[in-house]
Amino acid sequence: MLILVRRQEGYAGIVLPCIAGVTKKISPSIAAAREPGFLWGVSTSSFQIEGAARSDGRGDSIWDAYCRQQGRVKNGDTGDTACDHYHRYSEDIALMRDMGVDAYRFSISWPRILPRGRGAANDHGLAFYDRLIDALLEAGIEPWICLYHWDLPQAIHELGGWQNRDVAGWFADYAALVAHRYGDRIKRFATFNEPCVFTLFGYGLGWNAPGIADKAALHRAIHHVNLSHGVAIDVLRATVPHASLGAIHNRQPCFPASPSADDAAAAQRFAEYWNNAFPHPQHFACYPQHLAEAIEPYLRPGDLAQIARPVDWFGLNHYSPHYIKADSNLIGATFGVPPDDVPRTAIGWPIVPGAFRETLLDLHRRFRLPIYVLENGTAADDKLDEAGRIQDPGRIAYLQAYTSAMQEAIAAGADVRGYFVWSLLDNFEWASGYSQRFGLVYVDFDTQRRVPKASARWYSDYIAARRTSPIPASGRAPLNETEAR
Ligand code: FCB
Repeated sequence: MLILVRRQEGYAGIVLPCIAGVTKKISPSIAAAREPGFLWGVSTSSFQIEGAARSDGRGDSIWDAYCRQQGRVKNGDTGDTACDHYHRYSEDIALMRDMGVDAYRFSISWPRILPRGRGAANDHGLAFYDRLIDALLEAGIEPWICLYHWDLPQAIHELGGWQNRDVAGWFADYAALVAHRYGDRIKRFATFNEPCVFTLFGYGLGWNAPGIADKAALHRAIHHVNLSHGVAIDVLRATVPHASLGAIHNRQPCFPASPSADDAAAAQRFAEYWNNAFPHPQHFACYPQHLAEAIEPYLRPGDLAQIARPVDWFGLNHYSPHYIKADSNLIGATFGVPPDDVPRTAIGWPIVPGAFRETLLDLHRRFRLPIYVLENGTAADDKLDEAGRIQDPGRIAYLQAYTSAMQEAIAAGADVRGYFVWSLLDNFEWASGYSQRFGLVYVDFDTQRRVPKASARWYSDYIAARRTSPIPASGRAPLNETEAR
């Protein structure tokens, strides 16, 4: 087994500390996971598209409860119907097949298959994912499962949710159910999607479900999610032969929003939560220095080893860099305004393809794992034109710029193996409700009619072109001599 001793480096001018000299083990199963070709895909998540919230025995999730609280979600929108994907999955798979994607990443709704989060399973819910997986395989599309994309069963929340250490056991049981049921057909599993976002926004800042803003709650949640990741990796590894496993993290350079020292310190603090609170314990068996003290009260002997289980790839979600300013909130930092000359998308996120290229290269240097970009894309103010079509040149330009940046990173040595657009469909964009359209396919939420946008055609042509002229595999840059021992 190859052991690397890693050098700690700054990132985009900001030093992101972890304990120096940490050892990193590379999983022997990486070799088994090597893909013959680059994968082009699309991503979605259960709560954002499925709907059928009260059908066939599904239990409530924290997002159902959160949507019912007045003022939490824009326009009082809910996930009750969403894209009605639960009933229209065949049509959605046909859209993907027409687009020519290789792979589809979706998440399992924990409360759909375990309505109380634990205990008795719901056969109807389990059967839904059987149908979905079988139809994907029949269409020649590789299914990628994410176990957790933010829809915690409300019943688990009522037992303390991510704040209760027992959640690791409940999550392991849920992972075992999924692995036993679908492991004959699925090889790719991710444990969590963007743990930094749902913990920080849900438990630290109160912007997402379950709407808590409490420092201790945040730190407990961070540690218990990390622990749950580690135990789920063990369960999946033990249950699914040749499983190819990872977690999905977003990493964004965090730039100070102004030259002030306060903003510089805020950007550094924010980056600890955003970029390092999960990848560091999961890959290096340590918390970043400034978080270590806060997590200490919840840490038990053996936890870090349990968390840092070898994985096969690093799942990256990336949309933009952040411009961070000091704030009086409980982490002392929040989103500031990007400089005037930085263009922004409809949702206000900065468009900086160069930051994507640098993020990929930084990831490659730090983690030495195959990288799958599992979310990238943009919201746009899409409207049907008189001919009933959607022209979305802004999204096409964004995707062109970001895929070019990815190719530059690959040419410079980043080991990127796949790219998935967020998202297949316009969908429920969390606290923004249905006001932000991220889909390659437009959804008329009154009629549930789907209309592929111009960007869907662009992506389809782009994938077809890459088949005849594939992206050359990265040179897998040799390790820097000071890193390798
Ligand atoms: C990511 C989430 C995804 C979606 C996109 C726009 O942070 O993982 O569910 O909301 O942003």
